[in-house]
Amino acid sequence: MRRILILGATGSIGTSACDVVRSHPSDFCIAGLAVRSSREKAEALGREFDAPVFCGEDAAERAVRETDADLVLVSTVGLSGLAPTLAAIEKGMDVALATKEVLVAAGELVCARAKAQGVKIVPVDSEHSAIFQCLQDGAGWRGRGDVARLILTASGGPFLDGPADLSAVTPAQALDHPRWKMGPKVTVDSSTMMNKGFEILEARWLFDIPADRIDVVVHPESIVHSLVEFADGATLAQLSPPDMRVPIQYAFSWPARLPAERRRLDLPALASLTFRAPDETRFPCLRIVKDAARAGGTKTAALSAADEIAVARFLAGEIRYTDISRLVAAVVDAAPSLPCDSLENILVADAAGRKLAQEWKS
Ligand SMILES: NC(=O)c1ccc[n+]([C@@H]2O[C@H](COP(=O)([O-])OP(=O)(O)OC[C@H]3O[C@@H](n4cnc5c(N)ncnc54)[C@H](OP(=O)(O)O)[C@@H]3O)[C@@H](O)[C@H]2O)c1
Repeated sequence: MRRILILGATGSIGTSACDVVRSHPSDFCIAGLAVRSSREKAEALGREFDAPVFCGEDAAERAVRETDADLVLVSTVGLSGLAPTLAAIEKGMDVALATKEVLVAAGELVCARAKAQGVKIVPVDSEHSAIFQCLQDGAGWRGRGDVARLILTASGGPFLDGPADLSAVTPAQALDHPRWKMGPKVTVDSSTMMNKGFEILEARWLFDIPADRIDVVVHPESIVHSLVEFADGATLAQLSPPDMRVPIQYAFSWPARLPAERRRLDLPALASLTFRAPDETRFPCLRIVKDAARAGGTKTAALSAADEIAVARFLAGEIRYTDISRLVAAVVDAAPSLPCDSLENILVADAAGRKLAQEWKS
């Protein structure tokens, strides 16, 4: 029986995680739940799973410190996942990580501390879970010399084929993802492809591979979740119908695979799977993330903070859709860069990024 602590239990990932636990009552139990403000929903879950409930801005970190668990699922939004992830590492608890901003902002720091403590960071994001699954052959999954390249697939989001002019895109249009039902921040990030840029950084740290050996290919059907090309020219991929319960369950059960009643792949019904190169002129966020990664230090922490504010300002009607990438690029350019070796430096970079992003004018 694996005891799981779920941070962000009422969100899209948290809800799927509860489903996975419900369908495997003799394999998993919920040791505790943390949310920010959805107290009633969280208390109902607490009663159902007989688990302590933590609410409030610092709930996630308190939950880690006060709960005994074998695995912590970090699935809050943005930098709120960082302090609880570091607290879990400090306590020696393995982490199933959904909140990609943790590695975008502080990958170097988090991975160094996890390595020092012997803590495993297991991916939940479907693309990273796919890569993780392709690397399960006993040779280890971090810093392998036989990996030539990682290939992340991207659905392309709602604006892959139009409209030609993205400046008039509304929040409702950006929130209407063709394949995945997710929280608002990650849905808007998917539409701008900032999400895919973040995933390059996430993969860079999870698998300890330089960002210039991580490519992106657009695959609108979202069936191939990502691929690993090996040094001998062989490429492995993981395929399944789009359903976040698959990678969440694997993060919980790894290295075992547990049975589950789920929709299976029907290849003849699919008939064809398509792939194309991403359009970095139409979606400049991919390039902006790669530039920030090259600059190193805390530039990516400022980038993550700027994106959070940019998405919030867009959803509030304050800036246009195309301003999201302009704002983020301007903030990354202006933000000072510190070494990514302490929580303090990450928080300084985050605060600077937020301030610049709030002040940015179109
Ligand atoms: N959704 C997906 O399919 C998907 C796929 C891959 C990766 N991810 C990543 O997973 C993370 C979560 O995404 P999501 O779509 O599940 O988000 P979401 O639906 O917006 O849910 C966020 C959850 O986190 C909680 N939360 C927010 N701030 C918190 C804090 N300070 N302390 C404790 N709990 C807090 C929220 O509680 P309240 O309801 O009380 O605010 C809610 O339960 C994101 O980083 C996203 O990029 C998501």
